[in-house]
Amino acid sequence: MLRIDNLSVYYGRVRAVREACLRVEQGEIVTLVGANGAGKTSLLNAVAGLSPVSSGTVQFDGAAIAGLSAHTLARRGLGYVPEGRQTFGAMTVRDNLLLGAFGQARGAGSLLGPAGRFAGTEKVAASLERVYALFPVLRQRSAQRAGSLSGGEQQMLAIGRALMGSPRLLLLDEPSIGLAPQLVREIIALVGRLREAGLTVLLVEQDAVAALRVADRGYVMERGRIVMEGPAAELLASERVRHAYLGTTGVAKA
Ligand SMILES: Nc1ncnc2c1ncn2[C@@H]1O[C@H](COP(=O)(O)OP(=O)(O)O)[C@@H](O)[C@H]1O
Ligand SMILES: [Mg+2]
Repeated sequence: MLRIDNLSVYYGRVRAVREACLRVEQGEIVTLVGANGAGKTSLLNAVAGLSPVSSGTVQFDGAAIAGLSAHTLARRGLGYVPEGRQTFGAMTVRDNLLLGAFGQARGAGSLLGPAGRFAGTEKVAASLERVYALFPVLRQRSAQRAGSLSGGEQQMLAIGRALMGSPRLLLLDEPSIGLAPQLVREIIALVGRLREAGLTVLLVEQDAVAALRVADRGYVMERGRIVMEGPAAELLASERVRHAYLGTTGVAKA
């Protein structure tokens, strides 16, 4: 479904990603783990059309996607949840979700129009219902300002917003960041539920233990390079991964 071959990302002379190769097949949960600064976000952003692809190729469903706008990618079925959530705190939970459906509604130029009309299209209403079914807490809080949500709820909102575009492949950048350990487990468990709902997921995480537990396969990134890959269970058991990322306490080291 997603094929990345020899991808390099440079910011000026800074080489953030070096000749990375990565695959995600339909129905899989694949995780990309690595310390802070390893290049995970840069790789994900290159797929999402937000970082420059300096060399190499990115294919989605067999078509090259480097250089396509985020909007076009969304229409093709690529959903993206950026690092740091980036929800709109002053807007309601429901309006944040509706923003994710932009492009799906007929006459999508009408975002500025009455939210009721925008939300009224059948497809958008169905998407909203699906997100509320997956995250009941968002339904309960639909009229609240997003800024009043807890960190975990805001992450659910960010994921829910991406789901409003009915993606087939979801890119998740560090959904657990800044959350208490209990919430980390909840959010990661949610990723498992997304797969049950028919999604394919590429999960970027610094918390390697949590991510590898939910994933089918994993890639380990160090200083811009993919240095290991394999079935998640094998990576979890590997001496090198345990030593470098898991520590004895299971907490990812920076
Ligand atoms: N916009 C940018 N401009 C210049 N350097 C950047 C930019 N974004 C990231 N970098 C650098 O690229 C490297 C990889 O960063 P990043 O992809 O954010 O890693 P990770 O997500 O694994 O923490 C780091 O050295 C970082 O400082
Ligand atoms: Mg990052």
